[in-house]
Amino acid sequence: MSGRTLNSLKREPTRSTLERLHALARRDPFKFLSLAPRFLAGLVRGRSFSEQITPEVMKDFFIPVSPEQGAFLYLTARALKARTVVEFGTSFGISTIYLAAGVKDNGGGHVIGSEIEPGKHTRALQHLEQAGLSEFVDVRLGDALETLADVPEPVDLLLLDGWKDLYLPILEMLTPKLRPGAVVLADNIFTFKRDLKPYVDHVQSGAHGFESTTLHISDGFEYSVRVP
Ligand SMILES: C[S@@+](CC[C@H](N)C(=O)[O-])C[C@H]1O[C@@H](n2cnc3c(N)ncnc32)[C@H](O)[C@@H]1O
Repeated sequence: MSGRTLNSLKREPTRSTLERLHALARRDPFKFLSLAPRFLAGLVRGRSFSEQITPEVMKDFFIPVSPEQGAFLYLTARALKARTVVEFGTSFGISTIYLAAGVKDNGGGHVIGSEIEPGKHTRALQHLEQAGLSEFVDVRLGDALETLADVPEPVDLLLLDGWKDLYLPILEMLTPKLRPGAVVLADNIFTFKRDLKPYVDHVQSGAHGFESTTLHISDGFEYSVRVP
């Protein structure tokens, strides 16, 4: 029996594309510093941080999943034998690359992504092509509440990584399409603890068809399993 397994994350062109994009994303904190005076002025005027970080303001920021989270997304897709993956918040496509690599290595299928910023949508498609994964993705431009409304079922894996006030509405919209055993991963649980409390309460209550726990990976990854 051969000991070699197929893992697109370790192969070209996916490996070097991810390496290059993560390197570019490491500039995000420096860009953020340049916006600090603007955010502070907004806070003084009574606008919360969450209210100020609009897609337009963040149009040049990757704000991606970490390599560790990416590996976790890939492995989860492989464990589920996922064929249909849905993603809220594609940005420049880093998380989409991990998910699409998983779908590809499972033998085929699609990641249905969503991005509201047109410039980011264009760049994400370019990056997915550079990673050799275009045929496994359908990144939809526009508000995810509209663009993800007609995704095909059954959905095997859902990643929530867009703006935090939409996690719960998007989960509720897609819950009927999640197959039993489907996994929902939601990012930034620690960073946006207060904003995401209603979401975490929903999936951890046991009353809405999920069992769930918060994983201490990067900014906090809520790991929820769809149960009958
Ligand atoms: C944290 S970033 C996503 C990072 C990406 N998952 C990655 O790992 O590379 C969140 C993205 O959600 C997008 N977004 C925010 N509101 C949205 C909406 N209503 N519909 C679609 N995308 C949205 C933002 O423009 C932003 O690019």
